[in-house]
Order: sequence, then structure tokens, then C-alpha cells
Amino acid sequence: MNDLRKAAVDVLHRNDRGTFTAPSPRQYPHLWLWDAGFAALGWAAIGDFERAYREIRATLRGQWHNGMIPHVVFYGWPSAYFPGADVWRSDLAPEAPKDLPTSGITQPPVLAFVVEILFRHDPDRQRAEAFARETFPALRAYHRWLHAARDPEGVGLSCIVHPWESGMDNSPLWDQPLSRVPTEGLPPYQRADHHWVPEEQRPRAIDYDRFLALILHLRAHRYGESGVRTSPFRVVDVLFNALRHRSEEALYAMAQALGEPTEEIEGWLERSRTAFQTRLWDPERGFFLDWDDLAGERIPVIAAGGFVALYAGLATPEQAREMVDRYLRNPEAFAPDGGTRYLVPTVSKGDPGWEARRYWRGPIWINLNALIAHGLARYGFHGLAEEIRHHTLDLIARSGFHEYYDPRTGEGLGIGNFTWSAALLLGWELLKVEFL
Ligand code: DGY
Repeated sequence: MNDLRKAAVDVLHRNDRGTFTAPSPRQYPHLWLWDAGFAALGWAAIGDFERAYREIRATLRGQWHNGMIPHVVFYGWPSAYFPGADVWRSDLAPEAPKDLPTSGITQPPVLAFVVEILFRHDPDRQRAEAFARETFPALRAYHRWLHAARDPEGVGLSCIVHPWESGMDNSPLWDQPLSRVPTEGLPPYQRADHHWVPEEQRPRAIDYDRFLALILHLRAHRYGESGVRTSPFRVVDVLFNALRHRSEEALYAMAQALGEPTEEIEGWLERSRTAFQTRLWDPERGFFLDWDDLAGERIPVIAAGGFVALYAGLATPEQAREMVDRYLRNPEAFAPDGGTRYLVPTVSKGDPGWEARRYWRGPIWINLNALIAHGLARYGFHGLAEEIRHHTLDLIARSGFHEYYDPRTGEGLGIGNFTWSAALLLGWELLKVEFL
């Protein structure tokens, strides 16, 4: 094992809390949904499938009775994290677990494809099948919720009602839709995220006001249907829905392997394939764009999440080629130029909201790089996929397992010893798209 891999294993052990792996014990001391999915891949990559399964079980333990899997499960609460369980108050929701505080929103649905990866790679076939059988009903219930609660009209795409559900908290994608969120009468509050990370690398104060206002809105509706219907922020995100689709491909494969019915899942796959073409593909810009549900229009921001549509196989070969040529290989958009040196910045450099060092407004994230590289490979762009892998290794070798990286200098930003950066160095190959 080389030094980088040894260091990555070290980060996993250091952040291991027994039941779950904290993304960072200081900055993010609880369980986060998509972080847990990537952490499980890291554990599996070093052969510890039992530990990977424990991570998934800990995540599912927070599942609500309506199927929703929350984006934070507050193991280890109380802590200094804000907004904590006392702000979310999941106890107000009749569907929430009674004995374990959670948040009241979800996060990108990575869990089903992670479980399918574990199922495919666990050398102990009996254990693999038992775990798949154990978790399949919960995963299917989650996806039923993603359709029933977040796509009540059956368009084929799930909406999100908080930027945190996209995982890309302060992306320029949300600037316009978030501007409609009223913040009058917000109670005074104290952020905790500046304690370990410089302010210039974190979301702005106005973003936090709106993040909090949205939580209070949803909480006032006990996280129920009326809160979604009346939410001042409702968006259909490409990354979120591409990962939902990829997970549903995985659910389909698991259903077949386990002898479960497949018709319902086939229907989901069919509808999202169509909706990606009719609603999210922008023929003029030649890119998949997010959809602002309240304005009834596409959001004209070229974000790296668009490339994740390739990971889910949702682009035609021509669309994939156009996205690559027009944006990924274009130095005015994502490709290195005199200013940036590394792939893949989170947002096109041509976007007026681009900021090289601020969280999801420009820096490079290892999970997006991995998903984009494997998406490119799915469409035959093997050279470009390799290039992204090399850039990622360079960033980690240069700056360690940071939360995100400055695409100009490769400097590590955000918190250090970040779980998914380490887990994905180890588990990079596991994300390769393969079918059972
Ligand atoms: C944070 O606290 O920054 C998280 O991303 C919200 O879930």
C-alpha cells in the first residue's frame, strides 16, 4: 500500500465513531447521508465490508416512517454544530424516529447504488445477499418517497426544498431561487462553521439566513406535504436527479438479483429518462440545467453537477460529446487555462457567480470528480476520465485530504482530514458503472 493510501486509511480510522464515520469530527460531528455512502465505499475498498454495512445501517436507522432518509442523523448530539437537533426538532414530525434526532430534509440519493456496489464486490456471497435482502425494502421505500412526496405530479423528477438537499449548499445555482426566501423576523443565531474554516471559504451570511429561514418554514409545517407545497424554494436539480436515476438503475439490478418485482422501478427509470430530455436538457446551451419550479424555467448556470447526468447514462452520445467539447474541454468554462490548473471546478469559470475559494461556488470536490470521471468513462471518454483521476491524485498528494481545493493553485480548502476525500481515494474504482 502506498503512502497516500495509508494516509487515507488513517483518516477513516481517525474519523470513525464506531456506528458511523464523521465527515470531520470537528466541523461535521454527526452522520451525513451522502458522506456516509462514500465512507462505506472507503471501508469496502480496504476489505472491511462489515464496517461498510454498519455505516449503511446507521444511515437507515434514521429513516422516517414515510420513507424519507434524513440528511443528518444526530448521533453524538449535543455538539457545537449549528443548526443542531434543537433547531431541526424532528420530534415535531409524526413520521420521524422517536428515539433518534435527525434533520427534516434529505440529501443526494446515493445509498442504493452504494449498496449495489457493496453487494457486487463483497467476496462473502452469503453475507452480501443477506445484507442486500435486509436493506432493499428500506431503499425502495426511500425511492417511493422521492417520487410520492417530491414528484406528486409524476413528472419524473424529484424537487428539492432546501439547497442542502442538493449537497451543493451555496452554489450559484441557488442565487436566483434563494433570493425569494424571506428572512424577516429570523431569530438571532450563532453560526459554528467559521470556527475551524475561514469565513471567505464558507457560505455568506445572507445564505445562512435563507438556509435557516427555509428550515423554520419546513419545521412550521412539521416537515409535511404542505411545507413542500408552499416552500419559497423549490428546484429540480440535475445532480440530485441523476444520482436518483443511477440509484434506481442499481435498485432494478438488485430487484432482479433478489427476485423482487421490477415493474415499478422500470416505470421510474422510463419517466426520468424522458424528463431529463424534455425538461432539463437545454438545446441552446447544450447542457443539462436545473429547473426553478416556482419560476417555471431553467436556471442558466453551467454547474459541474450537469456532467453527473453521464454517470446515470441520461445523455445521448451526441449530448455527451457536446457537453465535453463545449464545456469540459473549454478553458473558458471548466478546462485548465492560465488561471486554473485542475479539473473539475464546481461551476463554469464563465459564470458571474464563480468564486475559486468559496465552498460550492468554484472549488474542486473529490466526490464530483469521481462521479464525473466514471460518467465520462461510461460514454467512452477514457482519456478525459484518466486526466480527472490524475488531477485528483495530484491535488491529494499536494494538499492532503481536504474538503475542497482551489482549482488555480491546488491549495486545500475547508476542513482537513475530510472523510469522503480519503474514502474515494481508496474506493475510486468501485464507483465504476457496471451492471450485475
Ligand atoms: C453544513 O453544515 O455546511 C452542511 O453542508 C449542511 O448540511
